[in-house]
Amino acid sequence: MIELLELGWRGHRHLLSMDQFSRKDVEDILFFSRKLAPYSGEGAVFSYLMGRWLKPLFFETSTRTLDRHTSAIQTMGGGYNTPLNPENSTMNDKQEKEMDIVIDAAQSSDILAIRHPKSGSVSEFAKVIDNLKNNKARIISCGDGPNEHPTQTLLDFYTVMEGLGTLDSLIWLIVGDLEYGRTVHSLVKGITKFSNNMVVGFPVGGLQLPQQYRPDGYKEFDLAMLPKIIGNVDFNSKIVLYATRVQAEKIARKRDRLYDAYDKEAKQKIQSDIYQEFRYQITPGILDVAPHQTKLLHPLPRGDEISDEIFLSHDTKISPIKQMRYGIQVTMAYLALFSGLEERLHEPEKYLIKQPVRFKS
Ligand code: NCD
Repeated sequence: MIELLELGWRGHRHLLSMDQFSRKDVEDILFFSRKLAPYSGEGAVFSYLMGRWLKPLFFETSTRTLDRHTSAIQTMGGGYNTPLNPENSTMNDKQEKEMDIVIDAAQSSDILAIRHPKSGSVSEFAKVIDNLKNNKARIISCGDGPNEHPTQTLLDFYTVMEGLGTLDSLIWLIVGDLEYGRTVHSLVKGITKFSNNMVVGFPVGGLQLPQQYRPDGYKEFDLAMLPKIIGNVDFNSKIVLYATRVQAEKIARKRDRLYDAYDKEAKQKIQSDIYQEFRYQITPGILDVAPHQTKLLHPLPRGDEISDEIFLSHDTKISPIKQMRYGIQVTMAYLALFSGLEERLHEPEKYLIKQPVRFKS
């Protein structure tokens, strides 16, 4: 018997932007992520995506986002094809066109997880795939240049729900590189789907949130004001303090057209100078005066904006390590949803082919 599954989820074949989701969509993704949580990272295997292949196409580097996709697809019973390594691919020595690499991947894989340094590029690839005959591949955007990184927002939201129990009536203090940080752009788009939130930006060194991403009522202050503002909000408020890395490589590219042609050492030097120029840190003093229901999030990678001491501390206000862990179940959920398996996600136990293994602690 041939099974008929929906291509994509709720009218969207691909996952490209936070714009495509309603509040209910986001809530449902988080709901199914929570259902899968007991199995994530626990050695469980489901039959949900058995026979399905994921192709990681990272035209730009990645650590966590790549790993959570390969872990998630395997936990769901599928497999993944060799992740693209641009330096080691036919793009490098045979000038193969990126588009052809994407089309090729769409022949051998069901889901393409794509990250690319150019804004809008992932949507362009999606249009190409849509025009192919008899092709069923779905694209998950893992970041398009400085534009958006929607799946990071989903796991950021999951972390906030776990920590504060709601995505309404929160104060969001967003710190760092608001201009080039794509996780911030998807985050603010996502926040506007919920009610009664206040979004305040603290850009470092003039890296302000571009106009097109600004939500209604958005305010921006000098970073020096952060301790005063966080120390003076109502002590019963729920706060998300969202710190971000300065996107040194993107700033360098903007400042110097030749940047990509430099050798590794020269690039690292340019980047360190930019990090120094825009250096900031979330100090213990800021966290001390913050209301008790404050959660510090960071999409990672981090520079000096969060010290090792704070990062590794067990203080309940510190969430970046939790964000990393939650990433897997959220990824499992949207991979299954975009594969047309929503109905089946209600009963994970039924589709479990290998029980989780837990260690005694
Ligand atoms: C981010 C990205 O790639 O946009 N990383 C991630 O996926 N968690 C953040 C960054 O690079 O600063």
